[in-house]
Amino acid sequence: MPVITMASSKGGVGKTTSSLLLALELADAGASVALIDGDRNQPLSKWAALEGKPANVTVISDTSEETITQTIETAAAEYQFVIVDLEGSANAMIIYAVSRSDLVVVPLQASIVDAHQATRTIEAVRRIAHTSRQDVRAVLLMTKAPNFISSEAKHVQSDLEGAGFEFLPVAIHERVAYRSLFSYGGDLHSLPAKQVGNLDAARENAEAYAQSVLAILRGKAAVAA
Ligand SMILES: Nc1ncnc2c1ncn2[C@@H]1O[C@H](COP(=O)(O)OP(=O)(O)OP(=O)(O)O)[C@@H](O)[C@H]1O
Ligand SMILES: [Mg+2]
Repeated sequence: MPVITMASSKGGVGKTTSSLLLALELADAGASVALIDGDRNQPLSKWAALEGKPANVTVISDTSEETITQTIETAAAEYQFVIVDLEGSANAMIIYAVSRSDLVVVPLQASIVDAHQATRTIEAVRRIAHTSRQDVRAVLLMTKAPNFISSEAKHVQSDLEGAGFEFLPVAIHERVAYRSLFSYGGDLHSLPAKQVGNLDAARENAEAYAQSVLAILRGKAAVAA
């Protein structure tokens, strides 16, 4: 079943958060989801060890350059969706993961420096896809977006689109709720509303983001059919 990899050469752009939000939304809609924790710091495994992990989300830990290909293939045969979270620093995992992915999502924030690094990651993904002869779609994802999109953000996005880079149509907003998942565990429905504000807005944004990923996957299937 579809394999989605989150990748970026820059650290801290929101890969792990975006992986978890996507997994939780897909699971909330009833799908079985494998989250492969490809980061040595094991942030998703730590989230899974907290209370409240939905039963249909399985976190697969302790994968390595040697095992990631097999891990992805086994998970793709068993689960309806496979999401791979890679760590920020460049390593060979990205090559193995991308060559087994249907979609690679590269998160970035709206700055010129981020944009430059993100497009280099997209270009690396395209090279890997070409070399491994795989049909891999690579898209940019604006993360930690403020409620009001700045003119710099609009410029960054339109420049990149003009240069042939595709964006997911939905940005992930900056929300305390998204950070809180990693301290409370569980999902956006189980977070305590008193301590974590604006849960409705966080849920709405996460759902729109997951829907935009699904639309791309469906589009790919139609092209391949
Ligand atoms: N949409 C968001 N709203 C609020 N905080 C966010 C959001 N996305 C990420 N963060 C916070 O930013 C920090 C980095 O996010 P995250 O760990 O998801 O990035 P990453 O790309 O996986 O980092 P690394 O390269 O270290 O793996 C974390 O503290 C996370 O809680
Ligand atoms: Mg991470």
